[in-house]
This record gives sequence, C-alpha cells and structure tokens, in this order.
Amino acid sequence: MSFINKVVLVTGAGSGIGEAIAIHFAKLSARLSLVDIDAENLRKTADVCEQISRVKVLTTVADLCKDNDVKQAVDDTVKEFGRIDVVISCAGIYKPGSVLDSDLIEVFDHVMATNLRSVVCLTNLTAPLLEETKGCIVNISSSTSIPCAIQSIPYSAAIAALNHFTTSIALDLSSKGVRVNSILPGIVKTNILQNSGMNDEETEEFYNKASTPLKRILQCDEIAELAAFLASDKARAMTGGSYQIDAGLALK
Ligand SMILES: NC(=O)c1ccc[n+]([C@@H]2O[C@H](COP(=O)([O-])OP(=O)(O)OC[C@H]3O[C@@H](n4cnc5c(N)ncnc54)[C@H](O)[C@@H]3O)[C@@H](O)[C@H]2O)c1
Repeated sequence: MSFINKVVLVTGAGSGIGEAIAIHFAKLSARLSLVDIDAENLRKTADVCEQISRVKVLTTVADLCKDNDVKQAVDDTVKEFGRIDVVISCAGIYKPGSVLDSDLIEVFDHVMATNLRSVVCLTNLTAPLLEETKGCIVNISSSTSIPCAIQSIPYSAAIAALNHFTTSIALDLSSKGVRVNSILPGIVKTNILQNSGMNDEETEEFYNKASTPLKRILQCDEIAELAAFLASDKARAMTGGSYQIDAGLALK
C-alpha cells in the first residue's frame, strides 16, 4: 500500500491516535498536512514523520473550535500542495458530564464544538477539494458501546451525531466520487484521559479495570492501519461504513 503523491490531512496529529495515523501515513509515503492545537506535540509528530519520509511535513497550529483556524489549515494545505486527497478527523476530547452537573451546558458546548462542529466545518471546506481528487474522508468516532457510558452525556451526544453526520455525508458525496467512512475504536491507550483532567493514578486504574471480550486494550497503530486501509484504493467500494475496532467491547 502506498500513498505516494497523495496529500493527507490529519487533525489531532499531536497525540495518541492522530499521531499514530500521521506516522503510519509517513511510512506509506504520503505528503502530510498535520493539524493540532498543541504546537509542541505537533512539531514532535512532524519531526518523526520527516525522519521517516524524508520530505517536509506541513504543520498548522489550530484550535479547530474556531472556524477561521479550520480555514487556515485547509488554505495552508492547498497553498503548499495544491490538492487534498484524504482528510482524517481525529482531534477530539473527552469530558465527563452528567445531566445533574451545574456546568453541563458549558462542557456540552466545548465537547460538541471540538468533536462534532469542527468536523462539519472541515468537511464543508474540503468536500469541493476532495471532489476534484476523488478523495476520501475517515472520521475517528468511538465504539458504539462507549456512547452509553455513565456520566458521558456530552461525549455520547457528539459521537452519536458524528456517526449520523458521517453516514449522511457519505450519501451526499457518493455522487461526487468521494468516499466517507468512520472508525469506532474501543479503549486505546492515549493521553485522552489525562487531557480530560484525570491524574496518572486514576488513568492507570481505568486501564487496569478495563475489560474487553478479547482481553486487550488497543494500540494506536492498530487504528492507524485501519485508517490507511479505508483511505486506500483497496477500499474503493467502501463508503458509509462504521468500522468497530474494539476487541469486542460493543458485544458486552
Ligand atoms: N483513546 C481512546 O480510548 C478512544 C476511544 C474511542 C475514540 N477515541 C477518539 O479518538 C480521537 C483521538 O483521541 P486520542 O485518544 O488520540 O486523544 P489524545 O488526547 O491523545 O489526542 C487528541 C488530540 O486532539 C488535539 N485537540 C484537542 N482539541 C483540539 C482542538 N480544539 N483543536 C485542535 N486539536 C485539538 C489534542 O491536542 C490532541 O493532540 C478522539 O476523537 C476520541 O474521541 C479515542
């Protein structure tokens, strides 16, 4: 599998799953446009990718909750490469939220803006470019079992809406030759829990207690390999799909 001369835009590339996706595509010779709010981590990922591919990686530091920042990332990519072939939306946050919380609406707005609205904005801006290249979109969502987790109302709502958005745009864009799929990961060891405010001890406890039918927690590169497959020509007949990769979590 090779993405030589293909331009791949990855959001959330500074950490976790997005970082692994960027590195995997660098190994597959893609030209990369990487986006994240965290400038330092973004640069670290880009450095690793450049060491692998020996070509310059474009980085855009952007808060994807801001429409102008999303536009900047797209404009930078087109200016540098003249095209976009693959868009992978991976930037996201987890924040606990119960309907009894006094700050629920604030948390809800932040999670929705990051995990859903930013994807809608990015899709809106890149769809015409993907139509030109007959490209594709891969959205990183979450295992269908996670949306029902306790005290996860904002995250659950964003994931459910993202899944519906993904299948809706798959239908919209199919007539333009653009494929759209999503990946629904289960429990993957990343920084998402620490970034949500959990300390190291709580995070360790969460991973120790986590159980899946296959008795394993996923590694980021397993998600990256699936993303590359869905973005490749091998998946040319696949659109509108939601691919669970969760060690059986959704079966429980
Ligand atoms: N880790 C898991 O167990 C798991 C499970 C299912 C789904 N997911 C999904 O995978 C995606 C990636 O999560 P992860 O586990 O790699 O998390 P992570 O915290 O390791 O990485 C998320 C990245 O997104 C970036 N980001 C956050 N807000 C942003 C913003 N406003 N603008 C730009 N960048 C922003 C962060 O800086 C970070 O680099 C998320 O959408 C998450 O919902 C993760």
